[in-house]
Amino acid sequence: MNEIREYIRYDSLNLVSYIIYSEDGVSISQGIGRTLNMSQGGILLEIEGLLDEDIKNISMTIAIDENVINVDGRVAFTLITTAGFTEYGIQFMETDIKTIEIIECFINSSLYETPKKPRLLRKKDSRIDSFNLTIVKEHEIILEYIDSYRKLVENIDNSNLIMKIENLMTFLKKDLVSHFFFEENAVFKAALYGYHIDEATHDIINKFKNDHTILMTKLDEILSFLRIIKNEDKKEGEDSLIRKIFVFLGHTKKHCREESEILTSLINYDWEKMRYLNSLLE
Ligand SMILES: [Fe+2]
Ligand SMILES: [Fe+2]
Repeated sequence: MNEIREYIRYDSLNLVSYIIYSEDGVSISQGIGRTLNMSQGGILLEIEGLLDEDIKNISMTIAIDENVINVDGRVAFTLITTAGFTEYGIQFMETDIKTIEIIECFINSSLYETPKKPRLLRKKDSRIDSFNLTIVKEHEIILEYIDSYRKLVENIDNSNLIMKIENLMTFLKKDLVSHFFFEENAVFKAALYGYHIDEATHDIINKFKNDHTILMTKLDEILSFLRIIKNEDKKEGEDSLIRKIFVFLGHTKKHCREESEILTSLINYDWEKMRYLNSLLE
């Protein structure tokens, strides 16, 4: 589960029309499918039915917003799902700069939409029964990025390292935007709900909100540096940026740990606050 893919994949649903060619270039079958996720390196393609077993290469036309891209791919794995559909992990073969730009632009624009409603990471249902377990789980998801980053940087094969880090930080930002929104619009409000609120509680909640602003500003700064280094293909500054990201992730970890501990003590056994919290998530 913790294996790092070359690219982090963004969940997407885009239509794909595909053509399969034989080795001598003759079209042998075609069809329509959809992407289940997409990254700069490939897609997860879902089709109804099955492709021929020895199919290795596939030519695809993918609709992305108002753009259409043509790209060839290699089937990396096949997964037959129960409902008569098959999922194919497709690795792009050669992608030109224009195609990569369209995919990047699509991924980036889909990432940072402010959530309309507070919700939990990776969960469809937002009802909370145990505050303690929920907040720890939320923070575990964030802390997994720190582990992934460490493994990425320590990996001997660090070709395209800056691009991989940028990808990881982009997805961390997506989850942080959503997690901070959940805390500020549900958890912190619940912590301040009721009659027995002292000044110290207000102070600590303000401190957490302040941490959010600082962390987000630092993360934006890191992302801009990563983009500059990537686009200008510079090596200088890379090491200090990698260290800077470690420091930023250390601050994020500290923030998460403090929150898990303090927010649990404020909310976990207070049924009035729990009821209010769940009403904000409905
Ligand atoms: Fe927080
Ligand atoms: Fe948090």
